[in-house]
Amino acid sequence: MEALRQEIRKSAPDNSFAACLADGLLRTPKEIACKYFYDAEGSALFDAICALPEYYQTRTEVALLRRHAGEIADLIGADAEIVEFGAGALRKVRILLDALEQPRGYTPIDISGAYLREVTRTLAADYPQLALRPVVGDFTLPMHLPGIENGRRAGFFPGSTIGNFRPDTAMALLRRMREMLNGGGLLIGVDLVKDPAILHAAYNDAAGVTAAFNKNLLARANRELNAGFDLEAFAHYAPYNPKAQRIEMYLVSLKRQSAKLDGRLVEFQAGEAIHTEDSHKYTIESFREIAARAGFIPRAVWTDENRLFSLHWLESR
Ligand code: AVJ
Repeated sequence: MEALRQEIRKSAPDNSFAACLADGLLRTPKEIACKYFYDAEGSALFDAICALPEYYQTRTEVALLRRHAGEIADLIGADAEIVEFGAGALRKVRILLDALEQPRGYTPIDISGAYLREVTRTLAADYPQLALRPVVGDFTLPMHLPGIENGRRAGFFPGSTIGNFRPDTAMALLRRMREMLNGGGLLIGVDLVKDPAILHAAYNDAAGVTAAFNKNLLARANRELNAGFDLEAFAHYAPYNPKAQRIEMYLVSLKRQSAKLDGRLVEFQAGEAIHTEDSHKYTIESFREIAARAGFIPRAVWTDENRLFSLHWLESR
């Protein structure tokens, strides 16, 4: 758990955007936790990323879910409570819900209460039989799930969000998820290592949507905190680090400048970077290895013919 605690320490005690931003930007090197990308504007930009021709992840994962929905439903079994870590695009969980035999309920966990309300309203209309138990919270922090009477849970963690954590932290998070699932399995999407040119294009799209998504952190600080960042004076920089097998995302200040945050002055040298995100890639084998170290029994794995993306079914016992 130490790695997870360390990651969590990146957040200021109250976990708010204002405090965490000031905290992260007063460090050397500067950093900010990537969960703050997702305000309403950032979530809309992320949806646009998912539709980009270069961003193969979403369409590949959706195709895998569709192609193997029957087999997945058999593995999960009837009467399961689906727990989604970070309520994502409804499109993915719908594929699962439509294939499952009488799912008993759906527990989406998300940091955005507004988004959860929207998800719940939409699903309630389309799945009147399904019990909806939204939980507002940060699933990287310890939390309690609503009780379900003698039912089995199955976790759902698509989109390769696990890639945002360093491998040791990812392992600790998987271990915590396993505890939360209380004996239930986990269906998880994991992006794979591949030709760096393909990875590079996915995070450096021609239309500049990923750049706008990255810069939204600063735009958000301007909107919410009156920070006064000059967005034009920051560059989106997202190289692939083949040794660490991850995309690293930065915002690089193109000039010497300063901003006011939380009453504190934050200074940037020309060329100084804010580290905004890591997106780790795995081989099928390396991911099964950390899942096993987290106490899961890796069972089925599905991948596309180009081995771009993988879906894993991990069991607890
Ligand atoms: C949501 C974390 C899976 O790492 O690919 C997309 C976020 N960042 N483009 C990813 C992201 C830039 C995405 N995850």
